[in-house]
Amino acid sequence: MRVFVTGASGHVGAAVVPELLAAGHEVVGLARSDASAATLEARGARVRRGDLDDFDGLREAARDADAVVHLAFKHEAMVTGDYAGALADDLKVIEVFGDALAGTGKVFVGTSGTGASSEPGRARTEDEWDTDGPRAAATNAVVAFAERGIRSSVVRLPPVVHSTLDRHGFVPMLIAAARSTGVSGYLGEGANRWPAVHTLDAGALYRLALEKAPAGSRLHATGDEGVPFREIAASIGRHLGVPTQAVPAERAQEHFGFLGTLVPLDLPASSARTQDLLDWRPAHPGLLADLDLGHYFDEALPAGS
Ligand SMILES: NC(=O)c1ccc[n+]([C@@H]2O[C@H](COP(=O)([O-])OP(=O)(O)OC[C@H]3O[C@@H](n4cnc5c(N)ncnc54)[C@H](OP(=O)(O)O)[C@@H]3O)[C@@H](O)[C@H]2O)c1
Repeated sequence: MRVFVTGASGHVGAAVVPELLAAGHEVVGLARSDASAATLEARGARVRRGDLDDFDGLREAARDADAVVHLAFKHEAMVTGDYAGALADDLKVIEVFGDALAGTGKVFVGTSGTGASSEPGRARTEDEWDTDGPRAAATNAVVAFAERGIRSSVVRLPPVVHSTLDRHGFVPMLIAAARSTGVSGYLGEGANRWPAVHTLDAGALYRLALEKAPAGSRLHATGDEGVPFREIAASIGRHLGVPTQAVPAERAQEHFGFLGTLVPLDLPASSARTQDLLDWRPAHPGLLADLDLGHYFDEALPAGS
């Protein structure tokens, strides 16, 4: 298939683009700068210049393709305080793609987060609708494309997508916080769980979604269903040679910055149905094993940048 990929120059795109190319698909990636275009070319993709605010360009790109994989997100706005604006813009982009693809039978693969289960303590499953949560409107819009003649699916990514390809995700942010404060922190008992996936396993799931997910699928990209946060913090502390300690709740923002509200959440998410549906088998190291490989602790990396 000819696949138009937004965010092809980003972290998840670094796995999705080679995965699609290796399976024989043609990839056209959106690039908003010379640097992003060069990254795409190095990854073997064709380049389409433009950005997320260029709705005419996005429409045309979708019409020229057999499938759209939407990975781009305005993370700069998110981390500098305009998360609401980034979410609203993401929804607008999704609607533009929906209008362009309606009635064509083409494929749209969107991106969201695994979020929290409606039943505290239970792992979230794919059949749970998004009733709240920041990306609920976008997720539900993608699922609803199925009623408009689009073979749509949404990949819910866990908060941690990890590998040597990860330069500015939540793991580098936690490492940066531990480096700057001299403490690898957790909140409360640290028994709350974070799910995770290796970037290459996530890339494989996007390809399978593109090739065979039924219209309206919600897919969970979790390799680890839920890693106790204290174990993540302990691994970071051990690798950096700093103590692992509970951080008082009132100091959460100061210690963890942007992640302060996310760190104490219990977010287990199962991918059993996704694995069965698409025969997706996460094969790369889990989060704790990946941390033990040591690559996240190379001082030369721009951790948290
Ligand atoms: N990685 C994770 O841990 C994680 C976890 C949960 C969900 N997600 C979601 O997964 C998706 C991909 O994340 P990622 O980690 O690959 O993000 P990333 O590394 O920050 O890459 C973001 C991509 O979006 C592009 N982009 C941003 N603003 C743009 C704009 N205005 N116009 C055009 N392109 C723009 C970037 O282009 P440039 O190369 O030009 O900057 C880049 O290709 C996002 O929706 C993200 O929220 C990621």
